[in-house]
Amino acid sequence: MNILVTGGAGYIGSHTVLALMERGHHVVVLDNFSNSSPKVMPRLEALAGNPIPLCQVDLRDGDTVFDVLVSHKIDAVIHFAALKAVGESCEQPLQYFDNNVSGTISLLLAMQKANVLRFVFSSSAMVYGDTEHETLSENTPRSANNPYGRTKLMIEEIIQDHCAADTNFKAAILRYFNPVGAHPSGMIGEDPRGTPNNLMPYLCQVASGKREKLSVFGNDYPTPDGTGLRDYLHVMDLARAHADALDYLQSQSKNLTVNLGTGSASSVLDMIHAFEQANKLKIPHEIIGRRPGDVTRLCADPGLAKELLSWESRHDLLQMCADAWRWQSKNPEGYNS
Ligand SMILES: NC(=O)c1ccc[n+]([C@@H]2O[C@H](COP(=O)([O-])OP(=O)(O)OC[C@H]3O[C@@H](n4cnc5c(N)ncnc54)[C@H](O)[C@@H]3O)[C@@H](O)[C@H]2O)c1
Repeated sequence: MNILVTGGAGYIGSHTVLALMERGHHVVVLDNFSNSSPKVMPRLEALAGNPIPLCQVDLRDGDTVFDVLVSHKIDAVIHFAALKAVGESCEQPLQYFDNNVSGTISLLLAMQKANVLRFVFSSSAMVYGDTEHETLSENTPRSANNPYGRTKLMIEEIIQDHCAADTNFKAAILRYFNPVGAHPSGMIGEDPRGTPNNLMPYLCQVASGKREKLSVFGNDYPTPDGTGLRDYLHVMDLARAHADALDYLQSQSKNLTVNLGTGSASSVLDMIHAFEQANKLKIPHEIIGRRPGDVTRLCADPGLAKELLSWESRHDLLQMCADAWRWQSKNPEGYNS
């Protein structure tokens, strides 16, 4: 298939581009580089052994998106492009609704006009909000507790309404838990701008000496060690799930909503210890207050993804930490190294 990957220069998108090309698909990357670097592209081409067409376009420019869909004869879109920082979304909600929600509507309208009928969307465990449930199935009630999560919730509903109205249009909504790690080559990985918002890139920057110590946001959560619990998932496993979801849309011609996680929750302290063990390093850290928008526990029930896609995570925490550190230590300044 000819597949357009929006946000394909970003962290998860770049890994997915390779997973799709490994399955024999032709991939076109669309990105405005608001949170990524064009320098990822030659590395992707080297890993894939093939050129990858790149369109530097903002999603909200619907006419240009339409031209890209038509000129590259696109059959399916995998839609990663979004802003994703919870804290920033609390400070700039309008920018988040504009970029994420308006951007997606613009993309869907362009797809409708170009008659592109297959769509895979990056949703998030954030759509479950702050929940009491131990593990989250796809039927767990949804309620976001920050503007970023609300953009995902709104987009899910827009997609569902569109699928109901046009039964030829088939969509997969993938709710990611906490993607970490990097390609085993160490050539591509997560390259956050400024101060990282997520634990793993922060850990990596402390390990490399770029930051003095790791701040742990709160140790008074109702969890065994008091720190927040998350379901960390290797980005290579996550990337593979997109190719599986696309196969499902093609073979079953049904819509799909699945969680993508490992089904096991690790605390912040567990993660620090795993990183130290995997990489034989010490991570200085201190406990500070809770961070707004954070929830106590997010852990997937990944059973439906196994049942429908035959998808399961294959990497453990130590592999996630080793791969993340390989990327960081080979590229201390990310793509500017
Ligand atoms: N990383 C996570 O922890 C996580 C967890 C759950 C869901 N997600 C979702 O997965 C997707 C990918 O996340 P990521 O971690 O790879 O983020 P990322 O920031 O690395 O990648 C997103 C890419 O989209 C591009 N982009 C943003 N707005 C755009 C626009 N209007 N037009 C064109 N390009 C645009 C950015 O430049 C970037 O390259 C996002 O939708 C995110 O919300 C991420």
